[in-house]
Amino acid sequence: MDLRSRRDTVRLGHAIAALLEPSMLVLLSGDLGAGKTFLARSICRGLGVPAQDRITSPTFSLVHEYEVSRGVLLHADLYRLRDAKDVATEIGRLGLAERRREGAIALVEWGNELGSLLGFAYDLQVTLTRADAGRAASFDGPLAKHLSTK
Ligand SMILES: Nc1ncnc2c1ncn2[C@@H]1O[C@H](COP(=O)(O)OP(=O)(O)O)[C@@H](O)[C@H]1O
Ligand SMILES: [Mg+2]
Repeated sequence: MDLRSRRDTVRLGHAIAALLEPSMLVLLSGDLGAGKTFLARSICRGLGVPAQDRITSPTFSLVHEYEVSRGVLLHADLYRLRDAKDVATEIGRLGLAERRREGAIALVEWGNELGSLLGFAYDLQVTLTRADAGRAASFDGPLAKHLSTK
């Protein structure tokens, strides 16, 4: 899917938000600057995080948490843990798998190689790349079929 402008990415975020249910996991993949945080922010807005609540990158805090009508929404960025000595322990400490079992929706940047540490399988993986105009997105996982035709 072509995302020629930020507006297209916002629209995609809202389309993804409409598909999300409690306990679902969305992996956001792509290089630094590909637009993972921007898309996560659009998904958060689509799920009802109000405009006055700032949505910043969780690069340093690792996980940000929001209350939305569908329950708890977690936005994580695991970049800093990728080379951690004991990734499993560090991620276990964040409690993402457990929070998902309790119904939290999780949006995770840099989570693609961490598999079961995030709980059960992902529902959607979005891979973002830079394109001539803007960005391009490709989809994988059970929810992909709802997005790829748009
Ligand atoms: N479709 C798009 N077209 C052009 N720029 C975009 C698009 N989507 C996002 N961006 C821009 O990409 C920049 C980097 O995005 P960011 O979400 O911080 O990347 P990442 O989290 O992958 O490192 C942001 O400034 C954002 O405005
Ligand atoms: Mg980011």
